[in-house]
Amino acid sequence: MTTPIDAEQGPNVARMYDYYLGGCHNFAADRAAAEQILRIFPDTGIAAQANRHFLRRAVRHAAELGVRQFLDIGAGLPTQGNVHEIVRQVAPDSTVVYVDYDEVAVAHARRLLPVDGRTTVVHGDLRHPDELLAHPDVRAVIDFGRPVAVLLVAVLHFVTDAEQPWAAVTRLREATVPGSPLVVSHLTMDGAPPLPTRQGQAVYQRSSAPLVPRPHADVLRFFDGYDLVDPGLVRVADWRPDGEPRERISHGYAGMGLRR
Ligand SMILES: C[S@@+](CC[C@H](N)C(=O)[O-])C[C@H]1O[C@@H](n2cnc3c(N)ncnc32)[C@H](O)[C@@H]1O
Repeated sequence: MTTPIDAEQGPNVARMYDYYLGGCHNFAADRAAAEQILRIFPDTGIAAQANRHFLRRAVRHAAELGVRQFLDIGAGLPTQGNVHEIVRQVAPDSTVVYVDYDEVAVAHARRLLPVDGRTTVVHGDLRHPDELLAHPDVRAVIDFGRPVAVLLVAVLHFVTDAEQPWAAVTRLREATVPGSPLVVSHLTMDGAPPLPTRQGQAVYQRSSAPLVPRPHADVLRFFDGYDLVDPGLVRVADWRPDGEPRERISHGYAGMGLRR
């Protein structure tokens, strides 16, 4: 069964991102808001592609390190090069749990992804990590006695300081064993002029989630209790480039840490 989709609802961050990526799971309200963002930041589509490329490099690296379990929180709508497709090129027996709090993203993911016992889609909220970790569908496929890669890619910047994103990441870290990777990409406006930043945030203020760009030091705090792998927390395009065509434009920081 799929969740009915209300085309009349307002702009939604999952579907706006789908539009930036050239996807087709979006409605007029999403496209209008995304077009407003593209007028303010014309390279947003390129930055979104750069973020997807980072995600692929990071999960491939984690798989090459021997990690076989992936918890992708804020997974979004299925697109090209989904996590299970990448990791299974390295290790076909890998387990991937896709989590999103957006019912439309979850409904699409359930329809489009192979939910096969090793790939699962869960409706869950990063802001409630205990509920997420206790979810029976998560427990059914993830063995927390073995390393689990926690992927928080382009999602933490939708969680306000008041919603305590650092505490949520700490809770996720505590649930995993040493050696478990944490993968983060996060929007920043470091170096960006303040006026367009405020205009962009005003557009997201009318969407399903506010936009909270953070400076380098605040993003680095998500890695407390982790050892950063080289090259550390850097601009998205600079994280372990692999020779694929590389978008130089990025509005974010990216990094991977291994739990101590
Ligand atoms: C920009 S998309 C990123 C998708 C994917 N991670 C990527 O990087 O390509 C952000 C996703 O995070 C989801 N999201 C935002 N806040 C969330 C929360 N508190 N819990 C779970 N998902 C959340 C949104 O619904 C959206 O699908």
